[in-house]
This record gives sequence, C-alpha cells and structure tokens, in this order.
Amino acid sequence: MLICRTERPGDGEEIDELVCAAFGQEQAGDLVWALREQAAISLSQVAEYDGAIMGHLLMSSVFINGEDSGWLALSPVSVWPECQGQGIASALIRAALDCANELDWAGVVVLGKSDFFSRFGFKPAAEFGLEYSSANETLMAMAFKQPTIRGQVTYHPAFDTLLEK
Ligand SMILES: CC(C)(COP(=O)(O)OP(=O)(O)OC[C@H]1O[C@@H](n2cnc3c(N)ncnc32)[C@H](O)[C@@H]1OP(=O)(O)O)[C@@H](O)C(=O)NCCC(=O)NCCS
Repeated sequence: MLICRTERPGDGEEIDELVCAAFGQEQAGDLVWALREQAAISLSQVAEYDGAIMGHLLMSSVFINGEDSGWLALSPVSVWPECQGQGIASALIRAALDCANELDWAGVVVLGKSDFFSRFGFKPAAEFGLEYSSANETLMAMAFKQPTIRGQVTYHPAFDTLLEK
C-alpha cells in the first residue's frame, strides 16, 4: 500500500537521489539540499511503498510584497521515473495540502501545468490578488484562509537559479 507521510530523520539521502533521478539533473537536488541547510523547509512529505520512497514533495514559505505571509510554495515534486504516471504525485499533493491546511497555513502557491494542478483545486493566483512576475508558467494558488495580503510573490532565494531557467 502507498503511504504518504512526513519526512523522517534518515530519509534525506534517499530523497536527494530520488530528486536528482526525477529531474535528470543535480540542480533540483541542490535546491532541496539548500532549503534543508537553511532550515527553509516548512513541509516535506514522502510517498512510501513497501518501505521504499517512491515520491517526494516540499513546501517552503513565500513572501508576499516582502512580508512573511503564512503562504507556502509547493516545489519541487519528484517521483522515480519508472514509477511515474501511477498517481503517486497526485496522492502526495493531496496529502500535503491536507497537512498544510491542518497546520493552519494560509494557502499554497505552485508554478506548473495549470491543467494538472487545477484538479487539486488550485486556481489562477491572480484570483487571490497574487502575482509572480518573471515566470514562464502561470502561478496557481489555493487559499485555506481569506488572503490578507495581496501582491508580488517571492520564493526563497534558493529557487533563484531553478526558476530563471
Ligand atoms: C511531475 C511528476 C511529479 C508527476 O508524478 P506522477 O506520479 O507521474 O504524477 P501522477 O501519476 O499523479 O499524475 C500524472 C500527471 O502528471 C502530469 N505531469 C507530468 N509532468 C508534469 C510537470 N512537469 N508538472 C506538472 N504535471 C506534470 C502529467 O500531465 C499527468 O497528467 P495526466 O494525469 O493528465 O496524464 C513526475 O512526472 C516527475 O517527477 N517529473 C520530474 C520532476 C518534475 O518535473 N516535477 C514537477 C515540477 S516541480
């Protein structure tokens, strides 16, 4: 059975290998490592099958208009290449959104394929007054609370290299 659970001490190495394998490059692994080093990970979940980690998802805080906002960014999401297309990321995303809501975060933003993320309830971030200026992709958002801040969303600096690509 597939279990979605919070990352535990000792999972780090397996997660790093998985992230590099999923993205086919070390840059995404470096991002996860940098977020971990800087204690910038707000939520880290894995999908486990028979004791092996098949998928991983991170959330980290974003700023809105430079202010700590209570909002999180969902990124990156990784699934082992040979396990993709079986609903693992979808299960992880749903579990992580429930967890973020229970932990009283205000909402979650994500940059990615809008047709994929809309199935979880994400809407264009502009509907919440949230903007992201330099992305090629549309910023999507899900609010757990009525947003109190509107404006420019900024990811943690560790994302700069990845998002500029
Ligand atoms: C994106 C990814 C996490 C999806 O994992 P998965 O377990 O195969 O996802 P699911 O089986 O739950 O859902 C499959 C859907 O993912 C979608 N998908 C594939 N690549 C995607 C991407 N880069 N961003 C968003 N969605 C993607 C597919 O369109 C597919 O949609 P469908 O159901 O309409 O066919 C996985 O393909 C992966 O690890 N890719 C490499 C890393 C990556 O690009 N991560 C996303 C950006 S952070």
